[in-house]
Amino acid sequence: MPETITATVTGIDPLSAVMHPDPYPYYRELAATRPFFREQRLGLWIAAGPSEVAAVLAHPDCRVRPATQPVPPVLAGTAAGDLFGRLVRMNDGAAHAPLKALLMPMLAAVDPGVAAQHAAAMAQMMDPGEHAHAAMTAASVNRWLFALPVVTVAAVLGLPVTRDRGTAVEVAQQVAAFAAAQSPLADADTVRGGAEAARWLGTWLDSSLASSVVADGPLPALQRAALAAGIEAQAVAANIIGLLVQACEATAGLAGNTLLRLGRNPSAGGMPLLGMVARVAQDDPPVQNTRRFLPADTELCGHAVKAGDTVLVLLAAASTSGLADDARAWTFGHGRHACPGDRLAQALAAATVSALCARGAEPAALARAFRYRPSLNARIPHFL
Ligand code: HEM
Repeated sequence: MPETITATVTGIDPLSAVMHPDPYPYYRELAATRPFFREQRLGLWIAAGPSEVAAVLAHPDCRVRPATQPVPPVLAGTAAGDLFGRLVRMNDGAAHAPLKALLMPMLAAVDPGVAAQHAAAMAQMMDPGEHAHAAMTAASVNRWLFALPVVTVAAVLGLPVTRDRGTAVEVAQQVAAFAAAQSPLADADTVRGGAEAARWLGTWLDSSLASSVVADGPLPALQRAALAAGIEAQAVAANIIGLLVQACEATAGLAGNTLLRLGRNPSAGGMPLLGMVARVAQDDPPVQNTRRFLPADTELCGHAVKAGDTVLVLLAAASTSGLADDARAWTFGHGRHACPGDRLAQALAAATVSALCARGAEPAALARAFRYRPSLNARIPHFL
């Protein structure tokens, strides 16, 4: 009986759910009836219940990369692969814990109100004024979603993006190009673009770190602490770029899904924006799943799993199942690899929505014409 669920609920499966108009009844059904199971057709284990999701993310044998593939083969040997391979997000153990321990307090110390001020200032600077007399076009909204959170993180870190619009736009474009190349759906051109972007970002960061403007931000202290902990300078640099990359697609999704919520419920406009963003993070989350890889045979949630197996962890199912004791925003992960930017991300999403609405973006019109961007894990609207 359970074997037929994925086939019977209108062709939806745990991967296509990400772009489905309303995957939540399906996720709820999975969490309630099949909290951990093997999806034969996709060749994946699926964790859907909150306890099972938490157990997989906490399990010491569940790794963020396959043992034989620390970097995706298409990126290996390129600048994008070098960068990817150094990210704490993509490592376990010694290449993860010490640097993660430095990034967490650094990001937690960013006051959300100060981040919102940086966002407002960056919005002002990046605004070409094209919509002074008209509603903002869908194309501009899409561009802003991918640019404003990224350049705001750069500004918060003290990187030199605040002087001229050209640099800010360029940084945002390069970060988006690198982020896009990480997708398993990326085509050859996107992968090539990602390698070029990684090279550009590496050079830009080196010269930025050498300049005096970063001295006012938190990066010099991070570099000193990393040096004292014996962490390579190259790993620190890669992870600073990583922060911009992490801020890109997921925050675009959170802000975009909040615009959809506003557009569908005009009365919700009276609610404080940060509260609405927090609700969207729980019930229409931008990151819907993440993966874990088994380097050895082990037992997981009562099942015998084998070396080489992959678990698709349905964060969005855990979050919307109604089965968890606490109302956690599972979209930010949990346990060792939990997102250290969760609070900052929500402040950035709220600031982005508010900057867009202040410039004439109309949520109701946006919600009438959009599709979801092609993705296997992120739910990001693309407005038409
Ligand atoms: C709405 C926006 C965001 C969402 C939904 C999100 C979600 C996530 C998730 C699910 C993970 C863990 C992945 C896993 O365990 O497999 C993660 C990791 C991470 N995130 Fe975020 N993130 C967001 C924004 C940000 C921002 C703004 C930053 C920093 C400026 C950031 C920095 C990081 C870092 C450094 C990691 C790696 C942590 C580790 O592996 O230990 N994220 N994020």
